[in-house]
Amino acid sequence: MLILGIESSCDETGAAIVKDGRYLLSNVVASQAEIHNRYGGVVPEVASRQQLTTIIPVIEMTLDKAACGWENIDAVAATYGPGLAGSLLVGLTVGKAIALAHNLPFLGVNHLEAHIYANWLRDQTKSVSSQEMDDADWEYQKGDPIFPLICLVISGAHSELVLVRGHGQYELLGRTRDDAAGEAFDKVARILGLSYPGGPSVQQAAQSAEEELQHQGKSLTLARNAYRLPRAWLRGTYDFSFSGLKTAVLHLAEGASEDKHQHDASSSRSTGGKQISQYTRMGEQAAQRGGANVGLLAASFQEAVVDVLAVKTRLAAQEYHVKQVLLAGGVAANISLRTRLEQELRPLNIRLSYPPIEFCTDNAAMIASTAFFHLLRGEQHGFDLDVEPGLSLPFIEKVRM
Ligand code: KG4
Ligand code: ZN
Repeated sequence: MLILGIESSCDETGAAIVKDGRYLLSNVVASQAEIHNRYGGVVPEVASRQQLTTIIPVIEMTLDKAACGWENIDAVAATYGPGLAGSLLVGLTVGKAIALAHNLPFLGVNHLEAHIYANWLRDQTKSVSSQEMDDADWEYQKGDPIFPLICLVISGAHSELVLVRGHGQYELLGRTRDDAAGEAFDKVARILGLSYPGGPSVQQAAQSAEEELQHQGKSLTLARNAYRLPRAWLRGTYDFSFSGLKTAVLHLAEGASEDKHQHDASSSRSTGGKQISQYTRMGEQAAQRGGANVGLLAASFQEAVVDVLAVKTRLAAQEYHVKQVLLAGGVAANISLRTRLEQELRPLNIRLSYPPIEFCTDNAAMIASTAFFHLLRGEQHGFDLDVEPGLSLPFIEKVRM
């Protein structure tokens, strides 16, 4: 089954064609990161206007790359939430219009669920024979993740630890009580004067600082603990909290000499203009103090986030006796997290899987993959489906094992 997936929930415009939920024929992503970098974060009105101009060329390019005509496509899927309402509306409307015009089944996809299904996409470099694709069982094929599993969903707006017992069976174990992991990376990047999106630039700054210390014959541990930063363990729960950590970075970046009230204001969840300009000012000040400090602060911050995510995920995997852990969402691209979690899980014989980097951040291949498993269950949406900017994963009641 060939599915055309469309993704437009934030500042990436994506279209992809995926066979049987796993095998990629083509994948095109147009990123607006350069535009939003000027503002230090995504400006929703700019994002939706950009979505409008890029969506049709991106879809046409995807069909071209896959050498597909509309007659080859079996279904159309588009993200309907969560995300920015204006951006979501563009992809969803185009997806419904295409399905209507070509008389194809249509499915709206939950963006968070799609991040999980990015783990079903096969490595592009491995070729799969058409025989292998057509003969296998649709629900499970060799190389698929094995249930039950724990999935750590960490994106720009969400941080959730989820027990997945089967296709579509999600139990919430814990979530962030304030900032999402990706949001913390983005805000700390702004504090340190690094570019948007924050995750890759914090990772890069940390890596440079670590390499510099290693050249001086010093240990990685020294770089990663150059600044003593707090970890919110929230013991006895699988919840996370990153806002205290972010505030601690802000204090260090400004030399802890500013008015206390300003710090408190900047630790709130809002990303209003006042705070963005405040972060940018701090970033400039911090950057003026020299790259090494910014790098070491980035390394110490990243280490604090990775510590909490890795330990809590390992504890959940042990408690629920799973044999596999998945990473999903943009922060799953983080190399330190992948390495550390692998170190936590390997002695326990638990397998860690994560998508290739291009499928961790927003893309439409994961949308097409998710749609396949819903269509298999006979699900489909009508053309009255609307966007749901606040959509969460469809959790079921927690059952003790
Ligand atoms: O999943 P995603 O592309 O979009 C949302 O659904 O939110 O995630 C974007 C988030 C951003 O906060 C970005 O800074 C973060 O993922 N991110 C990273 C890395 N690459 C992207 N965070 C840490 N390390 C990375 N290498
Ligand atoms: Zn995403």
